[in-house]
Amino acid sequence: MKLPLCIVGCGNWAGEVMDEIHDMTDEFEFWFASRDLGKAKAYCNRYNGTGAFGSYEEAATDSHIKAMYFLTPHDLHLDNARLACSNGKHVLVEKPIARTIQEAQKLASVAKDANVSLMIAENFRFLPTVSKAIQLIAEGIVGKLRSVEIEAKGPETAIEWRASRSRTGGGRFIDAGVHYIDILVRLGGFPDRLYATELLPKIQQIDGEDGIAMIAHLPGDVTGTIVYSGSTPTTNRVSRIEASGTEGVISFEPFGEEVLIDTLDGQTSFPVESAHRGLRRMLQEFRSSIVEHRSPVMSAIEATKDLAIVLAVYESTRTRQTVDLVQPIIHR
Ligand SMILES: NC(=O)c1ccc[n+]([C@@H]2O[C@H](COP(=O)([O-])OP(=O)(O)OC[C@H]3O[C@@H](n4cnc5c(N)ncnc54)[C@H](OP(=O)(O)O)[C@@H]3O)[C@@H](O)[C@H]2O)c1
Repeated sequence: MKLPLCIVGCGNWAGEVMDEIHDMTDEFEFWFASRDLGKAKAYCNRYNGTGAFGSYEEAATDSHIKAMYFLTPHDLHLDNARLACSNGKHVLVEKPIARTIQEAQKLASVAKDANVSLMIAENFRFLPTVSKAIQLIAEGIVGKLRSVEIEAKGPETAIEWRASRSRTGGGRFIDAGVHYIDILVRLGGFPDRLYATELLPKIQQIDGEDGIAMIAHLPGDVTGTIVYSGSTPTTNRVSRIEASGTEGVISFEPFGEEVLIDTLDGQTSFPVESAHRGLRRMLQEFRSSIVEHRSPVMSAIEATKDLAIVLAVYESTRTRQTVDLVQPIIHR
């Protein structure tokens, strides 16, 4: 079954996503919607799409469209999902699921009531490097896990809606840092407490933070750390994950093609399939979940867990206190 999928919001990320998935035409029929018909038509022509809409409402009410993929600012995710669900369309919405837990819960219940599939477009969930590292940890190759350490730094610019705390729900961490939370939870589990601090001085003039350092207590007394900066002025982007155990260290770069094991016996490389940024696998999963009438891997529940950690990080930076966490409840 070819899924007629409308790409909604023809911005930067929509272009990068389409660069990676445009040839998945055995599985998808691509349509485009923008508030500006000219933009939608330009994307449609560039990516050999089927059709274009000059408004999101037009796309949502068109009978050809079966699913909508929203690549829009965070403050619009709930309203966008409402629009799709009220017209019976399946929803793929960019990360973060929402700005608050209440918003995320509403988003999930809107999809549940409409009986449509809802998936959050967290592409890091589909990276083979992360899956391989999880498998190696489970096999005990580095012994008992002691720490998961994540360092991610790069020069990014946050302008327009991205500079507004009320529109993003925070700063750079809820936007790009949330990917690393997803990795942390998958490798080490959901934390029961954490402490975080903002990196200062701020380099970007945005309402929210442009860098965070956090330390979390994970199940089994594993320590999790993330140092994330969305504005380090360097050409050398860093994105390094390490999982250290009693018998060695697993390390990888998320978009890399190998996972390394380092022990006292030496270093071993485990190659993984090249999946670029995981977007093709993510789209495949969205389509399969619809065809198979099942909940997608990156469900509202999973995305809300990530959001809860981001929000606990913000609480800790505000209060300068350790924050206790419980997993949020989402009925799906
Ligand atoms: N997974 C990842 O790695 C990744 C990377 C980057 C971004 N993202 C996510 O993708 C989403 C979009 O990010 P982006 O970088 O593509 O942002 P962007 O370049 O600003 O594009 C956002 C698009 O949303 C639409 N939009 C609708 N109402 C809007 C409004 N009131 N103000 C501004 N834009 C509005 C616009 O499309 P039209 O004018 O065509 O309607 C705009 O081009 C966000 O949720 C972001 O977190 C994910």
